[in-house]
Amino acid sequence: MPALDAARDCFERNFGTSPDGVAFAPGRVNIIGDHTDYNDGFVLPMPLALGTAVAFKRRGSDLIDARAGDYGDAALLIRPDDKVPLQDGWRSLVHGMIHLLREEGLVAGGLDLAIAGDLPRGSGLSSSASLCIAIARAAFDAAGQMIESPTRVAQIAQQVEHRYAGVACGIMDQMVIAAGEAGRAMLLDCGTLEWRQIDLPTDWSVLVLQSGVTRELVDGAYNARRADCEAACRTLGVATLRDVAPGSSGLSTLAGTEALRAQHVVGEIERTRQAADAIAERDIGRLGLLLREAHASMRDLFEASHPQVDAQVDWLNEIIGPAGGARMTGGGFGGSIVLVCEASARERIEAAVEQVGKPQYGLGDLVIRAHG
Ligand code: GLA
Repeated sequence: MPALDAARDCFERNFGTSPDGVAFAPGRVNIIGDHTDYNDGFVLPMPLALGTAVAFKRRGSDLIDARAGDYGDAALLIRPDDKVPLQDGWRSLVHGMIHLLREEGLVAGGLDLAIAGDLPRGSGLSSSASLCIAIARAAFDAAGQMIESPTRVAQIAQQVEHRYAGVACGIMDQMVIAAGEAGRAMLLDCGTLEWRQIDLPTDWSVLVLQSGVTRELVDGAYNARRADCEAACRTLGVATLRDVAPGSSGLSTLAGTEALRAQHVVGEIERTRQAADAIAERDIGRLGLLLREAHASMRDLFEASHPQVDAQVDWLNEIIGPAGGARMTGGGFGGSIVLVCEASARERIEAAVEQVGKPQYGLGDLVIRAHG
């Protein structure tokens, strides 16, 4: 069921009345630029039509009463002085978001909330950031207020991950979810938080496929990769890897994992810039090559891939041919695959996924067509 309907149903079931409204925040797919955000680099994500919906109604007291439709209508009651639970899944995210928004004086008052999502679980399409931004939108909508700074709300959602979920994430997911535009890619400079919306050619398609390898218990590996990048910065004497030019002599002074991680990040930042140019020039062949290089770099240098996903991506790239490409998208260790092809090739590729990709390579369902 679509998230909006599921949230509304959940509200009526639990509170016996209709909500005042239903807020929504999308999930995201990243076309290219992974593990660059917390290194102040570029990313090129897109919001999806799937995401998280939060039905809301104001209530007289200061209490927040939230129900999670995807978890058997489990309840979370938040009183003003309650402590945010640590690393407790959706509860940490919802409570953390309400807590920090209140602390900043952005929202006040009590609410009844019903939450439901339609992103597949463990698919690496940012269901956490989607939940956090949906909660913020519901709280603002309930108060009849506009979100004046989507950037500020994105930063608060990132803080929730850091402080309460134990994930030292970057800002890509929260920014594209809070400030992205449906159907457009966002070239975001994570150093300055400036962005440019990019239209994709109408005769291209962007597909999101499930690898079937779910991302579970990968937060520790993610945090470890970030720590490797920070160690490389200390060795190089730079504040961030954004400050390191591709091919700079400093890179060759690094050793071991520091060298591998830094090479990925520096190369990926450059690939992301080039990908934005390739889209502007409508050069799908060049974009496809960049996607392939990005996948190889995640596999060999960042060591954040998975053998089953590597085999799927190799096979998809063969099927696509020179006009486009595929790669694992997001934090890694499984999750989803993003695929760019000519719109005229889409049906052929989708049929091959059904006939060969699923039975022989364990590919999961097509999650969504993000474009074309
Ligand atoms: C996760 C994080 C993001 C980003 C990606 C990798 O999605 O939440 O901040 O680092 O991984 O690009």
